[in-house]
Amino acid sequence: MRKKLIAANWKMYKTPDQTREFFREFLPMVAGHDRDEIVVCAPDIDLAAGLESARGSKVAIGAQNVHWKNEGAFTGETSTAMLLALGVTHVVIGHSERRQYFCETDDTVNMRLKAALEAGLTPICCVGEVLEEREAGATDDVLRRQCVRAFHALSARKSEKLVVAYEPVWAIGTGKTATPEIAAEAHMVIRREAGEIFGDEFAARLRILYGGSVKPENASALMAQEEIDGALVGGASLDPKSFAAIVKY
Ligand code: PGA
Repeated sequence: MRKKLIAANWKMYKTPDQTREFFREFLPMVAGHDRDEIVVCAPDIDLAAGLESARGSKVAIGAQNVHWKNEGAFTGETSTAMLLALGVTHVVIGHSERRQYFCETDDTVNMRLKAALEAGLTPICCVGEVLEEREAGATDDVLRRQCVRAFHALSARKSEKLVVAYEPVWAIGTGKTATPEIAAEAHMVIRREAGEIFGDEFAARLRILYGGSVKPENASALMAQEEIDGALVGGASLDPKSFAAIVKY
């Protein structure tokens, strides 16, 4: 009942020309693919090229971050209004690289999330533990804390579009994928917490993606888990053939 969402996270890769080239190859490979939703989250500089290239297809375009204010003196930031004006529909929020390298906190994740939902964007809110937390047996606590803080003061009614991505930090870009069972367990923790916050009906509809070294070779085993509602794909989404293979798992 939950349609899977397969999302590319390009991170800081590709120019506008490389974006057009990607779509020239990628779109024919996924033409007519209706089983899953597809979104490509690109650097801001590539959004216009992505939207233009994907026009008329079912592939949506997302950003990788968004500010919580509509406009203002915030050098280097992008607002929800700017994304919407371009035609962007999705946005990644709270990716672990932003938490690690750009001082993103649970509080700023919450502010960005609120702004994205109010604007009608589909936020993909990332949570996940680091290796030391997993080894210390703290994974469930970390996930619960990240969810409670990210969803603070959000209502179920206003959060219909919310998507969560479980991305264990130790699996990102490392080639170490969580086993489908480990991922499914973490997804259950997140879904239970979402149930506490938003109610069980909401939690049953909530899509929770897995991210962390998803590749064509492991995508089908991950997607076979009932708890896993899609994927957030970094490295393997840069090549059109490999991303198409993941979409078609
Ligand atoms: P990866 O990145 O697929 O390269 O591990 C996933 C992500 O960071 O979203």
